[in-house]
Amino acid sequence: KPLVFSGVQPTGNLHLGNYLGAIRKFVALQEKNDCMYCVVDLHALTAQLVHEDMIGQIRSITAAFLAAGIDPKQHIVFNQSQVPQHAELAWIFNCVARIGWMNRMTQFKDKAGKDREQASLGLYAYPSLMAADILVYRATHVPVGEDQKQHLELTRDIAMKFNMDFMEKIRPTGLGIDITVGDEPVHAYFPMVEPLIDGPAPRVMSLKDGSKKMSKSDPSDLSRINLMDDSDAISKKIRKAKTDPDALPSEVDGLKGRPEADNLVGIFAALADKTKADVLAEFGGQQFSVFKPALVDLAVEVLAPINAEMRRLMDDPGHIDAVLRDGGERARARAEKTMTEVRDIIGFVR
Ligand code: TYM
Repeated sequence: KPLVFSGVQPTGNLHLGNYLGAIRKFVALQEKNDCMYCVVDLHALTAQLVHEDMIGQIRSITAAFLAAGIDPKQHIVFNQSQVPQHAELAWIFNCVARIGWMNRMTQFKDKAGKDREQASLGLYAYPSLMAADILVYRATHVPVGEDQKQHLELTRDIAMKFNMDFMEKIRPTGLGIDITVGDEPVHAYFPMVEPLIDGPAPRVMSLKDGSKKMSKSDPSDLSRINLMDDSDAISKKIRKAKTDPDALPSEVDGLKGRPEADNLVGIFAALADKTKADVLAEFGGQQFSVFKPALVDLAVEVLAPINAEMRRLMDDPGHIDAVLRDGGERARARAEKTMTEVRDIIGFVR
């Protein structure tokens, strides 16, 4: 079975972008794959060191995973800091990755802001830890939103350089796997990860500005739908969402140059497990005054049960912590197997 890995940071409230770009895909992938879903608490330190309610944030992401339908018995749900092997492999990857590669990361440039000298070293090295999260399990498939694409390309570069640099040491251990790179067969240790970014909503945009990503850090709460929003809030935010005055087009091509319309149609499609073309086949020619109430109904129908289940789970933190402890234990066993092999490949004495 293919191994799926993904992570979500425990910072701020989850919003519809996190749900459609990531968590909803996590749920769908469970049927045919072995899945590991991680609350990446070590990553949360990169932008801000001290968090008022770190424990509550970790529990709330875990509750969202479970409420959305992730099964922690069939699969593995855990928080990153319970598996120190992530940080160990990240150190090795810091020595594999080149400074020039890191300098190209657009998310670092965005998050570091103007005063880059004051950004933490962790924020800079972040993609190397992300590569370690995935590769410490030698996972092959990574469901994420569009904004993580560049980090996954870097993950492939790191895996490739490790494979190439240690090629002569990997072969005699018999630990390698055969992969093809381009058309070339290569005997490698780490697989080339496949990003799973497809779907109708890989990049959910702000409800107030179709050129900006929906994000936890947008000062306007009207720009996003939070997973903890109640039905009234969802309804209000969709009704107030920015649109243009035209009717919806009948074909996907007609959404070009209409970012707000495109965004709402994409959200509808993702919530309904349909394509944008399906949605336009139904609503083409209709005004937003018809489409928006239908979107409100759909969003409430999908999100209200998740919201209710999250609240129920949050009332029993002992249960959430037990899920994370159990997942952490199983993840640690897998990660230690990889690290034992990596230490042998590198040639550390044990
Ligand atoms: P994070 O915590 O910022 O976001 C979690 C997931 O939500 C997706 N996402 C979106 N998708 C569509 N539209 C949006 N507006 C939107 N905003 C966020 C993100 O793409 C992500 O999939 N670096 C990662 C966490 C991470 C990780 C990993 C992911 C750490 N290690 C290993 C995969 C594999 C992050 O900061 O996501």
